[in-house]
Amino acid sequence: MAIEKYDVQALFATPYFKTNLKHAITEEHVKFVRGLKMIKNRDNLISENLYIFEEPEMAGIKAVIQEALDIYSSQVMGVEHKLYVTQSWALSNPPGVGMHSHSHSNSLISGSFYYDELPQPLSRVIFDKHTSYQQLEINPLRERQNLFNTPINVLTPESNDLILFPSYLNHQIEANMAQTERRAIAFNCFIKGQLGNYRDVSELML
Ligand SMILES: [Fe+2]
Repeated sequence: MAIEKYDVQALFATPYFKTNLKHAITEEHVKFVRGLKMIKNRDNLISENLYIFEEPEMAGIKAVIQEALDIYSSQVMGVEHKLYVTQSWALSNPPGVGMHSHSHSNSLISGSFYYDELPQPLSRVIFDKHTSYQQLEINPLRERQNLFNTPINVLTPESNDLILFPSYLNHQIEANMAQTERRAIAFNCFIKGQLGNYRDVSELML
């Protein structure tokens, strides 16, 4: 007899968080970030300053991103620990340039903030569920692709969006097909507080 009834459920899932912060960005912020000295990265440009949130001009941006991180730690991670930004930097993709696949080491959560007007057409962020060499590549048929079997997932950030995602996720940015630069801020985060338990000898104070 053929099987007619079956059930497929999710065991675990990977979150990403998105919010729009247009209300918190001023012309002064945009001017300040645009004015940062940029140097050559592998393909695109990165700010020479890699702690830009520590600059007084960025206090307003730092505060609103902290507000988003507080929501992420309490509502998405479900913890009372505090997420805080470690390094923060500006990025610029000139026309024709994207960002190669990478992940962020020594960081728990990473973020991208599209503080400036994004040029059209929008470049997408492509997340890859594989984090290392794959012995077998078993990809689903296009018409049977779903959240469980897809090897990649794609999102299209819009101007003033903030995206937060687990730092271990491999991601790349599509080539900028616009005639003008595509600008963004990126940052890494770690957590403060107590992990583990004293009697279990797993305690770690951060
Ligand atoms: Fe990245």
